[in-house]
Amino acid sequence: MRLTIIGAGYVGLVTGTCFAELGNEVMCVDNDTRKIAQLKDGEMPIYEPALAELVEKNRQDGRLAFTSDIETGIKDSEVIFICVGTPSRDDGSADLSHVEKVSRVIAEHMDSYKLVVEKSTVPVETSDWIIKTINTFKKNGCEFDVASNPEFLREGSAVEDFMNPDRIVIGVGSKKAEELLKELYSPIETKIVVTDINGAEIIKHASNSFLATKISFINAVSNLCEKTGADINSVAEGIGLDSRINKHFLRAGAGFGGSCFPKDLKAFIHISEKLGYSFDLLKEVEKINSRQKDRIVNKIKDLLWNLPEKVVAVWGLAFKPDTDDIRSAPAIDIIRRLVKEGAKVKVFDPKAMEKAKKELAEDVTYCVDIYDAADSADCVILMTEWNEFKEIDWQRVLRVMRHPAVLDGRNIYDPEKLRQLGFKYSGMGRK
Ligand code: UDX
Repeated sequence: MRLTIIGAGYVGLVTGTCFAELGNEVMCVDNDTRKIAQLKDGEMPIYEPALAELVEKNRQDGRLAFTSDIETGIKDSEVIFICVGTPSRDDGSADLSHVEKVSRVIAEHMDSYKLVVEKSTVPVETSDWIIKTINTFKKNGCEFDVASNPEFLREGSAVEDFMNPDRIVIGVGSKKAEELLKELYSPIETKIVVTDINGAEIIKHASNSFLATKISFINAVSNLCEKTGADINSVAEGIGLDSRINKHFLRAGAGFGGSCFPKDLKAFIHISEKLGYSFDLLKEVEKINSRQKDRIVNKIKDLLWNLPEKVVAVWGLAFKPDTDDIRSAPAIDIIRRLVKEGAKVKVFDPKAMEKAKKELAEDVTYCVDIYDAADSADCVILMTEWNEFKEIDWQRVLRVMRHPAVLDGRNIYDPEKLRQLGFKYSGMGRK
């Protein structure tokens, strides 16, 4: 099939590339001309495992192309995926102005039947607005369908998630749209859930909100563990082995960040409110997540007493491992608070240093590795559980630190081992 992907961000780039890999002819459109020039030169605007190789391969094979000319993109294909950003507004609602703009441009340039698919995460009933917009601005009698096909890929394993999904959700209003999407996804072996469009839109927000709820739940339980001396890691294992609960998303720690969970939770709470339901459960989920960061700052104070002039080393800046993404990363928020209170902060992350430099500028010292960060530090905080941070030379860390304290924000270290070596250890919900 010939496909157009509008928006070459995380979701658009992965979706377009993977569809090309499945044998389709894909045109990725973005109005960021610098990004398009970069992609045409074979450079990647983001780090995502396996993506660069796939982009290159499909570009060479002529199945994947990039352009900033949206008009050609629309005319050339039957199926158009909207993958533009839907950021949070100040009131928590999703800013849908990019979706509106794209819908309008599609309407103005379509010259044959189009299936317009929402891939961006949008609040329920957005499709109604897309349909209204296209009907208002279309210049001829061309038919079209709108469908919702939410994306569940995780950063760091996006290509793998696209190719081997747990399920594919398609929300459609016509048989034709259903058949086109089923054909498109036919090379992928998984269950396809077909719903109406509102259902698919709700599935996306509800899935992310549920996962965020699991994380906040375990973080809430970790408070009790801390007060009683129980260990949250073994408590989570005991809970998660129940197959009705399952072990995933039960890792206590600094809380969730990233470009999806915080934004989607806010948007789901907001749209529920607008529709007349106050989703108080999710408001609490947000609160617990925010309190995790307060807990970390308080723990640092418990280890170091006053912060002015204290040197704090932060290991890991990305909101999770295997990505360079620092959007809503707990580490960034915590660093800002430490700096504000007078601490000197030294940082290291295997992939996110460039992005951090743009965000934190001169406020922190950028280090070449974890040992450099730990040098002369009064406390090390582990914020992102990169694999390479798991097996380290603790004797070397001990030698270079000024005061050997470790705050394990993701509970990946063995408290006993560290204490025996001479560190003060503090975790999240464990002795
Ligand atoms: C998420 C969803 O998983 C994905 O389906 C959706 O399409 C986009 O949002 P992503 O934001 O890439 O994906 O990251 P994910 O792996 O889900 O982690 C989100 C956050 O939760 C991270 O900050 C992570 O550190 C945190 N987390 C995750 C925990 O704190 N504990 C856990 O047990 C799991």
